[in-house]
Amino acid sequence: MQNFDYMTPTRLIFGKGVIEKLPKVMAQFGPKILLTYGGGSIKKIGLYQKVLELLKDREIVELSDIQPNPKYDPSVLDGVRLCKEHNVDVILAVGGGSVLDCSKAIAAGACYDGDPWDLISYKVKAKAALPIVDIITLAATGSEYDSGGVISRTETNDKIGYIDPLLYPRVSFLDPTYTFTVSKKQTAAGIADAMNHTIEQYFTEDTTLLNDGFCESMLRSLMVNGRKCLENPEDYTARAEMMLACTYGCNRILSLGNSPSGWPCHGIEHALSAYYDITHGEGLAIITPRWMTHILNERTLPRFVKYGINVFGIDANLDKWEIARKAIDETYRFFESINIPMHLREVGIDESRIGEMAHHIAVNEGLDQAYAPLSEKDIAEIITASL
Ligand code: NZQ
Ligand code: ZN
Repeated sequence: MQNFDYMTPTRLIFGKGVIEKLPKVMAQFGPKILLTYGGGSIKKIGLYQKVLELLKDREIVELSDIQPNPKYDPSVLDGVRLCKEHNVDVILAVGGGSVLDCSKAIAAGACYDGDPWDLISYKVKAKAALPIVDIITLAATGSEYDSGGVISRTETNDKIGYIDPLLYPRVSFLDPTYTFTVSKKQTAAGIADAMNHTIEQYFTEDTTLLNDGFCESMLRSLMVNGRKCLENPEDYTARAEMMLACTYGCNRILSLGNSPSGWPCHGIEHALSAYYDITHGEGLAIITPRWMTHILNERTLPRFVKYGINVFGIDANLDKWEIARKAIDETYRFFESINIPMHLREVGIDESRIGEMAHHIAVNEGLDQAYAPLSEKDIAEIITASL
């Protein structure tokens, strides 16, 4: 097991009705709040109105219309400007991962005098960030429990995972009932996203029985409860377990002591959604089985065998290669069974920019350092196989 230095400073407040604690939580920060949200789902579910009512004696500035795959321009830039103009003390992000990620970049940009892109692109290390509180309304990214935010810059086709311990939310409210209205498409994308977060951390070196078991249990739980959420969107128990599983996805808790993962599927998907603005979880579901097929070899075989037996219950007496291939097939079939489009063409991506994207990924994502190192040629082959 490798050494590690680990802390997640985020307070999680979980369950039905926990929003009643919001005024007390917000009172520990200064009086001025930047309330951030997306295209209106929080108004449809009555959450926006509830937040304003609970915080009626506070000074609130709003940033709305944060898009999926949140954009540097205008959302991050507008948010930074509002924070500076109004001397904001704390950001309250209400929505999905995109709203929270955007808020994280704003939090750092608000405490920096230069161009916020300097921070997001790692040219300059942030010295401070505004505190962030969030009410997450979509189970998927785990942004509510991690220190990263993913920001897209359209004109350069960049989609960068900006990570800094300063960006951990101080407090995350997780009420599964807010996820009842998430569409089937976004619910399925959320399942695929959280499953892939787990898979990225499972396929590494120096793994332990402990971490492997945690990952395998995550995957089984996400498949069982994910299906239940799709069948009955108001199944509280299923939504709750899915929400908690998603929360564990990206804060390293699944892989403490393992060798670091290169997060190859994310490296590839981020370029796909930077170039084509596709839904993150769908892109991952399409890439994952093709990536698995590409990296299956003598060295990686035992991992696939373990994955197949412990996650999908494949007969351990079968030939090892058969188990591995069945495991990849089961992965594909699960995503297909929850109605995710399983070909890039179905989400509007053709072969025309594969070379350009593969080059961008190879230069920017460091996938030659992954568990199964990927060259530019490997990346192009995986994307081509996903068409
Ligand atoms: O904009 P609104 O109107 O709020 O609608 C959103 C949006 O259209 C809707 N939605 C959210 N909550 C809802 C709801 N609709 C009905 N009822 C609700 N309760 O869902 C749509 C998608 O929302 P979005 O926030 O984009 O989804 P998600 O949470 O999956 O976030 C995706 C973004 O997170 C990044 C992805 O790359 C992508 O940009 N990621 C962030 C990570 C992190 N911070 O750790 C890790 C991930 O790997 C991922 O890369
Ligand atoms: Zn993800």
